[in-house]
Amino acid sequence: MNPTLRRLLREARPYSGRLVVAMLLGVLAGVAPLTLARVAGLLQAHVLIARPELGAVVLIVVLVIGSQLLGNAASYGQGYLTAWSGQRMVASFRARMFDRIVRMPLSDFDRWRPGELQSRMSSDLNLMTDAISISLPQFIQTAVTFVGALIYMIYLDWFLAAVLFVAAPIVAWVVSRFNALIVAGTKRAQERIADLASNLVEVLANERVVKAFRREEFERERFTGANERYFGAYMKVTQFNQTQAPVLALVVMLAVCAVIVVTAREVGVGRLSPERAWEFWGATALLINPMNRFSIFFADFARAFVGAGRVFEILDLPVEREDPPGAQPLARLLGDVRFEHVGFAYDPGRPVLRDFSAEMLHGEIVALVGPSGAGKSTIVNLVPRFYEPQQGRITVDGVDIAGVRLADLRDAIAIVPQETQLFNGTIAENIRYGRLDASDDEIIAAAREANADEFVSRLPEGYATIVGERGIRLSGGQRQRIAIARAILRDPRILILDEATSALDSHSEALIEVALDRLLPGRTTLIIAHRLSTIRRASKILYIEAGSVREAGTHEALIAAGGAYATLHAAQFAR
Ligand SMILES: Nc1ncnc2c1ncn2[C@@H]1O[C@H](COP(=O)(O)OP(=O)(O)O)[C@@H](O)[C@H]1O
Ligand SMILES: [Mg+2]
Repeated sequence: MNPTLRRLLREARPYSGRLVVAMLLGVLAGVAPLTLARVAGLLQAHVLIARPELGAVVLIVVLVIGSQLLGNAASYGQGYLTAWSGQRMVASFRARMFDRIVRMPLSDFDRWRPGELQSRMSSDLNLMTDAISISLPQFIQTAVTFVGALIYMIYLDWFLAAVLFVAAPIVAWVVSRFNALIVAGTKRAQERIADLASNLVEVLANERVVKAFRREEFERERFTGANERYFGAYMKVTQFNQTQAPVLALVVMLAVCAVIVVTAREVGVGRLSPERAWEFWGATALLINPMNRFSIFFADFARAFVGAGRVFEILDLPVEREDPPGAQPLARLLGDVRFEHVGFAYDPGRPVLRDFSAEMLHGEIVALVGPSGAGKSTIVNLVPRFYEPQQGRITVDGVDIAGVRLADLRDAIAIVPQETQLFNGTIAENIRYGRLDASDDEIIAAAREANADEFVSRLPEGYATIVGERGIRLSGGQRQRIAIARAILRDPRILILDEATSALDSHSEALIEVALDRLLPGRTTLIIAHRLSTIRRASKILYIEAGSVREAGTHEALIAAGGAYATLHAAQFAR
């Protein structure tokens, strides 16, 4: 069996009770139209005669209305239950996709375009939604009517029915050919729409750059190109879709014509009564509607399968390494961090860190200095296990972090990144992100410590000020101080500042340095900075070059040594 189908069936298992009821209702709804074949026979034998029988007319009216009402009620119940189960399943996919995306290891996350993920959560899920809510219930009814009519025909006259069955292999072949085409075309179309979404997401994130460089036209053309490619891919699928229906209809019509010819002959030689012939034709007529619609259903299912495959790809993404069995809980930490001969590469064969060893002890402020691209951010990103080293090990209080509970490790760490990312919400909510159960007073205290309270209380709405998407409505320095308040609230044992102050004006930087002085004592602080005023506070400076330590020591010792750090220092003062 097709693995995607097998997986869908497995995923549908929690809803099997409802689906069984829905199936039974669907059988009822599908069988109801079969009475029409009997009605055709009754019409011929008891109504279309010289003296129509009143009783037969009443019976026919009752049969038509009764089967219609019953069929409609069953159809409602079936459609509702199927859609309910299907939508619950899709909702669970959506929730699990989100969970996978937030728990993906960064090394995998780096490889995905955000727009691609977004498009799989919308467009590919929608393919499934449409098929499940609309096509699946109708397909079940239609299939039951179809199979019911066939069985009825075999019962009426197996020889005539056999004429129809000659068409079956041709129909099956046509459907499978078209299915393959539709699947391939839909895959391409879904890839194109993911390109489109990625393009949009990127432009939205870089709107200011687009405007500043007046690249609206350039971006419009890029988008139009992607848009046209999607249009082309979609129209290809439409061609297959639209060709399938008439081709199938033609095959079916040829079979129906054969049935009419053979029936006429059978009636002529007296092997078949006219009443039976009419019933047979009535049943044949019931086949035509399903046959025509099957092509639409099959196309819908083929497209939903493509969507499901792309959804399952996300559901199967790795999550950050589950804690190994016996993962060590971290109790109250001192926060001594040691790198022991660490080697690391983002991409195999392109090492970023080589035999990197360093000690960062509690109470120390360790400054990482060096040219950009040297690996400073990489070093600090290994501490919360954002990435895992390929050689050597990193310990916290002497315990290899590879063996500790990830949650405990990350709880002990706070990071203030260079590009402060805030969430659209109030200032208070953004600070509370550091510790969700913090009280309002604690938030204000943290903001005071971070020298943020001063500017926040001058805002008309204070802590209730909405910061805008990514904090766009605050200045860089203000955002940075909110981020520091968020870190303070966490009360981390290990504090990481990755160029947190580099982009700031000297007034903001001075305010932040005062805040840092309050934040640093008693913790292990790793600080990546360029300004000497910030670096000078460090108890230890590591000069990093090409992924390893070139010089280490205090500011005074390194100046006295007259090496790379001293050169950097001199260059900064020469400016
Ligand atoms: N997510 C990533 N994927 C692949 N390569 C990366 C990634 N992040 C950084 N690098 C590469 O690793 C090297 C070190 O980068 P980084 O640690 O950010 O340097 P620094 O912070 O010292 O400026 C650079 O050559 C950079 O191109
Ligand atoms: Mg960096």
